[in-house]
Formats: sequence, structure tokens, C-alpha cells
Amino acid sequence: MVSSSVELIGRKITKSVESKPGVSLLQHAIQHGVDWQHLCTRGTCARCRCIIEEGAEHLEEPTKAEHARLDPEEIEEGYRLGCQAIVKNSGQITARNKTYF
Ligand code: FES
Repeated sequence: MVSSSVELIGRKITKSVESKPGVSLLQHAIQHGVDWQHLCTRGTCARCRCIIEEGAEHLEEPTKAEHARLDPEEIEEGYRLGCQAIVKNSGQITARNKTYF
């Protein structure tokens, strides 16, 4: 049973990949060829924004950059920045890239 996978839903490509603690969702997407939007990789452009549909508890807490870039309501609803959201431990995670434009 694979219980530690991340389902990454990009614009056109969706993949379920093995989750690696310490690695960001964006890095997972890039390594596996998922078309996940991004520009800065530093938490400022918000291109990598995503909604965590499942398994938010398996991610590290939102970073300072995410608190600066996202509204409190967005964080409350489960939005994260893919380049900032680091996998904390094993468990199923589902993340959908949802950029603003
Ligand atoms: S890639 Fe720019 S905020 Fe994540």
C-alpha cells in the first residue's frame, strides 16, 4: 500500500507521486513533469498558489512569505504557495494548482 503519495493536479497534467519529506510541493511537481505554474520560487509571485484538498496536516505550517502574500481567509480555506509548502511527514496529500489568472 502506498500511503505516502502526493497527488499533484496541474493545468493539464495530474500525477500521483511519492511524497518526500523536506521537499516543497512545487519541487515535487517539477521533478515529475507536472505543469505547475511558478516564477519566483521565493514566495512572492503566487503563481504556484494551490488549494490543498487533502492532507494539509502532512505539510509544514505556512511560512512568513505565505502569510505576507496570501489573505488570512485564503490560508483558512486551505490555499498554500507550492514553492513554500514543504512536506512534513508521510500521508496522502492532494494539491491542485490554482493560480489567480
Ligand atoms: S513560485 Fe512564486 S510564489 Fe511560488
